[in-house]
Amino acid sequence: MSAPDEDAARTRIQELREQIRDADHRYYVLDDPNISDTQYDALYRELVALETAHPELVTSDSPTQKVPGKVAEGFTPFEHPSPMVSLDNVKTEAEFRDWIDSANRYLKHEDERRYSVEPKIDGVGLELIYEDGVLTAGVTRGDGFVGENITANAKTVRGVPLRLRGDDVPSYIAVRGEAFVRKADFVAFNRRAEEAGEQTYVNPRNFCSGSLRQLDASITAKRPIRYSAYAIGAVRGASYPTQEAMLTAFREMGLPTTPETRYLDGADAVAARYVELVAERDGVAYEMDGVVVKVDDLALQDRLGMRSRSPRWAVAWKFAAQTATTKLLQVEWNVGRTGAVTPKAILEPVFLAGVTVSNATLHNVDELERLGIREGDPIEIERAGDVIPKVIRVLEDARTGDEKQIAVPTACPVCATTLVRDEEKVAIRCPNFACPAQIQRRLEYAASRGAWDIRGLGEKQVKQLLDAELVKDAADLFRLEVDDLVQLERWGTKSAENLLAQLEQAKTLPLDRFLVGLGIKEVGERGAKILARAFGTLERLQQATEEELLELDDVGEALAHSVLGWLAEPHNHDMLARLEAAGMQPTPVAAPTGGIFEGLTIVVTGKLEALSRKEAKELVEQLGGRAASSVSKRTDLVVAGPGAGSKLKKAEELGVEVIDEAEFLVRTGR
Ligand code: IVH
Repeated sequence: MSAPDEDAARTRIQELREQIRDADHRYYVLDDPNISDTQYDALYRELVALETAHPELVTSDSPTQKVPGKVAEGFTPFEHPSPMVSLDNVKTEAEFRDWIDSANRYLKHEDERRYSVEPKIDGVGLELIYEDGVLTAGVTRGDGFVGENITANAKTVRGVPLRLRGDDVPSYIAVRGEAFVRKADFVAFNRRAEEAGEQTYVNPRNFCSGSLRQLDASITAKRPIRYSAYAIGAVRGASYPTQEAMLTAFREMGLPTTPETRYLDGADAVAARYVELVAERDGVAYEMDGVVVKVDDLALQDRLGMRSRSPRWAVAWKFAAQTATTKLLQVEWNVGRTGAVTPKAILEPVFLAGVTVSNATLHNVDELERLGIREGDPIEIERAGDVIPKVIRVLEDARTGDEKQIAVPTACPVCATTLVRDEEKVAIRCPNFACPAQIQRRLEYAASRGAWDIRGLGEKQVKQLLDAELVKDAADLFRLEVDDLVQLERWGTKSAENLLAQLEQAKTLPLDRFLVGLGIKEVGERGAKILARAFGTLERLQQATEEELLELDDVGEALAHSVLGWLAEPHNHDMLARLEAAGMQPTPVAAPTGGIFEGLTIVVTGKLEALSRKEAKELVEQLGGRAASSVSKRTDLVVAGPGAGSKLKKAEELGVEVIDEAEFLVRTGR
């Protein structure tokens, strides 16, 4: 490669990067695109081509680096430069005015103060750290002190600049903001996932957090996540007098902020803006669950300072759940994985909180009685955080007299087996283990993300396998062959091979994930972790006695009985044997043993000298203990450094042993 050639490439690369950054800024920050998608793609492709020809010219802040390279093994902990706190909530105008009054009292005067009034985006908190203008880390909130390092994923978020704009950027800045997914993008993704037999998500927030926690950042890159910045965790080389100046500086540096934010004087103006946003809520592109009100003057923010867990200078004024009235057309009875038969309300379609709603949950038979609901009833429904709305009351005055009593089924709607009432009497259950609906649900569950994570095996595909009588239970999945699958509609060699590869991978899952997939009642992700840690291998768990199970922390009778009952069933026994024969070999989960902290729950708080808090927690876990974040009756030991506050107090109140860092180091032998 000759030098002039290289110089030309360098110049062109720089030009292209500038143009792409500029286009991103116009699109994501200013909401005012300057070029078409086609033009953008052309610039991007030219840059990729040049960087491929000149790999030595690739830099980590090039826009091409938003698309990641390798898959992470896991996320490592990352200590925040200052705690990522949350906000106090208020629900009514009276409570909001109390907050204003108490802030004023604290400041000892009653000025018409200025507030920054921002939408509260219902997303996932995400901290972005820029050093000399370059994005060096993306960190989740975690427990507020230590989050997870998800840098590769954060880089893929739309509108997150890999390098801040301008020459005069702070030498270090930890930007705090919300990662979120727009309502329309969420609906479109779910629709496509459903068609492809992949897992759908319950709401945009859930979708966003699941996407950000993918180990393979190329998956995250395909998800339409956006970002909006609203606070600073720490900064060097810049200072801002007000929240307004800070948010303006964010935009100038290329960080997106919400256009709905206003800077307003006095409580009345804030209250009026709240009312306005409630009215605009449906029309806003993303889910908003309230308004965040912050004292605009940062010097006053400083004087107001923090309470134990939240700042005095800001408050979240939440929106009430949105409601609508409609009509209950019919009740449909669904059979779940464990046989529970639950009522679902089929509604006259109604527009609520940005989406058309045509069904709602009714939970169980007790709920029908509590509501006193009849078929044909005029009802009020509510949509809180989640996408699935619930029926909150019957509008009895609007009844016409044509409403009909709801017939609670006595036989399974799918296999006609006589239903039984379970012990707690809230659920009715189909006792037929071979009920086709239960089999379908069990297989879907085994394939789901928290369990065996078999992509491409969703509701539709499971149904195809069952209809073709290729499988009867989860063990049969492992006997499938390409020839079986290609006979089915919409399956090709490639998708068949993909599925078999996924199944192959599932054979060596960690024991806890394997257990989740068995679909044992009460054994969710948490329960499975406890069992896997305590017993290590499936063989050991199969020999567990009731006594051994009940001895475990957080294992109650319901879980213990469910596990023993499941293991005692001959068909489950048989399935486990067939899984084993198919080569299923879950990876044992080792509980650290032999350490001096074995079995102890330990809280580390305050400022430490020799170790960071993170290192101290790691040491606790290496030595067999459990590092917890809050002090309770279950806490065995608290390690407190200078500045330890409420946790130390709590420990003293509860009589929990407290040691300092020096003693901790002695005990750990450091
Ligand atoms: S300020 C001290 N501003 O709501 C500053 N938070 O509990 C704390 N959120 O965890 C956050 N929109 O994830 C702030 N405009 C906004 C926000 C916002 C959404 C989230 C954030 C935080 C939670 C408040």
